[in-house]
Amino acid sequence: MAERPTLETPRLVLRPFVLGDARDVQRFAGAREVAATTLAIPHPYEDGMAEEWISTHQAAFDAGTMVTLAVTLKAGGALLGVIDLHIEPAHQRAEMGYWIAVPYWNQGYCTEAACAMLHYGFVERGLHRIGATHFGSNPASGRVMQKIGMVYEGRLRDFIVKWGRFEDLVHYGLLRDQWAARQTASP
Ligand SMILES: CC(C)(COP(=O)(O)OP(=O)(O)OC[C@H]1O[C@@H](n2cnc3c(N)ncnc32)[C@H](O)[C@@H]1OP(=O)(O)O)[C@@H](O)C(=O)NCCC(=O)NCCS
Repeated sequence: MAERPTLETPRLVLRPFVLGDARDVQRFAGAREVAATTLAIPHPYEDGMAEEWISTHQAAFDAGTMVTLAVTLKAGGALLGVIDLHIEPAHQRAEMGYWIAVPYWNQGYCTEAACAMLHYGFVERGLHRIGATHFGSNPASGRVMQKIGMVYEGRLRDFIVKWGRFEDLVHYGLLRDQWAARQTASP
């Protein structure tokens, strides 16, 4: 069993989930606004789902395919959301996913967490590429991708059916060299 990472940013601690987080996960991920623009979050979010989800994290980390961290406030420790990297080791790349609880939106928390995850992916995991996708109807997520330096790569029109409606899927990506150049440019 490998030790999962804990990452720090100025305002946040990104740490492995524990079963005690399940109530907050259910409450926050259960919000319609969070489920509406994500692919994998069930709605309604039933009892037991959060515990089941949390209990998969260690094995997926050990398999080298998934790093899932709780986004928490450094001051006080409140759980704000989730950030993950879905790794494809054979291709040295990962897809980043995230959600932030509605009361904490638009305060820069996702951007801060995503920057730390990029550093972890490129430096600690030696990845070559990290990408992310968002629904066409979710410009806030696209804005996060832009703010962390990801590059727009294309839009698959009507690619997803979400709650009975077609959604475009917008792709962003970042290569390690590009990311490293940005680190040098902005200390
Ligand atoms: C997407 C999400 C993670 C962003 O989290 P956050 O902590 O609010 O993100 P940040 O505060 O770091 O950045 C949000 C940016 O989007 C902008 N934004 C918010 N709503 C917007 C809108 N309707 N149109 C355009 N930009 C918008 C904000 O102004 C901010 O940009 P700025 O700093 O340039 O002003 C959050 O909204 C969320 O969890 N949504 C539901 C789940 C989800 O969609 N997850 C991502 C799936 S791809």
